Amino acid sequence: MPGAIYAEGLVKTFGDVRALDGVDLDVPEGTVLGLLGPNGAGKTTAVRCLTTLLRPDSGKAVVAGLDVLGQPNEVRRSIGLSGQFAAVDEYLTGRENLQMVGQLYQMRGRAAKARAAELLDQFHLADAADRPTKTYSGGMRRRLDLAAALVVCPPVMFMDEPTTGLDPRNRQELWGVIKQLVAGGTTLLLTTQYLEEADHLAHDIAVVDHGRVIARGTSDQLKARTGGERVEVVVHERDHMGEAAEVLAGFGKGSTTVEEHTRKLTVPVTGGAKLLAEVIRELDVRGIEIDDIGLRRPTLDDVFLSLTGHVAETKGEDGPADDAGHEQEKEATK
Ligand SMILES: Nc1ncnc2c1ncn2[C@@H]1O[C@H](COP(=O)(O)OP(=O)(O)OP(=O)(O)O)[C@@H](O)[C@H]1O
Ligand SMILES: [Mg+2]
Repeated sequence: MPGAIYAEGLVKTFGDVRALDGVDLDVPEGTVLGLLGPNGAGKTTAVRCLTTLLRPDSGKAVVAGLDVLGQPNEVRRSIGLSGQFAAVDEYLTGRENLQMVGQLYQMRGRAAKARAAELLDQFHLADAADRPTKTYSGGMRRRLDLAAALVVCPPVMFMDEPTTGLDPRNRQELWGVIKQLVAGGTTLLLTTQYLEEADHLAHDIAVVDHGRVIARGTSDQLKARTGGERVEVVVHERDHMGEAAEVLAGFGKGSTTVEEHTRKLTVPVTGGAKLLAEVIRELDVRGIEIDDIGLRRPTLDDVFLSLTGHVAETKGEDGPADDAGHEQEKEATK
């Protein structure tokens, strides 16, 4: 039985660009899927297709049990969407924007007002509530856009890069809000370039590149795929590197990497902390002095890099040329 969000073979082309090249997704009810991918991977296009804003060239999508192509109006009434580019009316105040959304969803005036006030508090916008939003900072707009998506708590939510441009405190708070929402039964598809965010919020992760899902699994499964744990040792004396490499080779499950200039040796292992203790003992017995030793598990960054060949979170600068019209809020702090 398909989940709350289901897609099969979604294709969307823009001229020569195959933005989606056969995307399959399945998000069980009440869970969070994190869609990860470098700039231009097709994340926003996928969200736009699933939320009826774009018509795919081919493929099938079902959201909240409704056929996205056949019943777009019903789908729209069952979903919430917060976009990569905040969609707020510049000339209305924050409060008016939120009340307007409530009215669009046919809330009564009083209920819409109460909900707006509640969200303005929750998103720390109460002080600015009665100012036109064109005076808001980027982070304030983003928070208002998210609040707007939460006016009614729809069963299925889509969030395209919800925390891009937020400072760490606001990001943490938003994670709290999202967790509450999901605890209440909402199904969420979230795109992000912050691997930490996916690690923190998503039950399942789909890595997208060039319009295709190239890997799928929990954060732990993806990390395990990337090669498990490693022991890293920094020896004190350059002269001891050869012997240290011998020791590591005895414990390792693969070839040892040696970095001459930093005197660092790395070897893949299985056996965790217990094995690390054995390595330390053996080095000690042989009188090899070490400056540092540790067990390192792959991070989602390692996963992302090994799968896509891109380092995550480089926006524009040294990645492939950024696409026209895809100007992005750069994150100021991390
Ligand atoms: N309206 C459009 N017209 C032409 N090309 C488009 C359009 N929308 C998207 N594309 C192209 O489709 C591809 C996927 O874009 P998309 O916005 O889905 O990527 P993304 O994964 O959301 O990237 P980002 O991380 O930068 O937000 C890109 O090559 C982009 O240039
Ligand atoms: Mg995008």
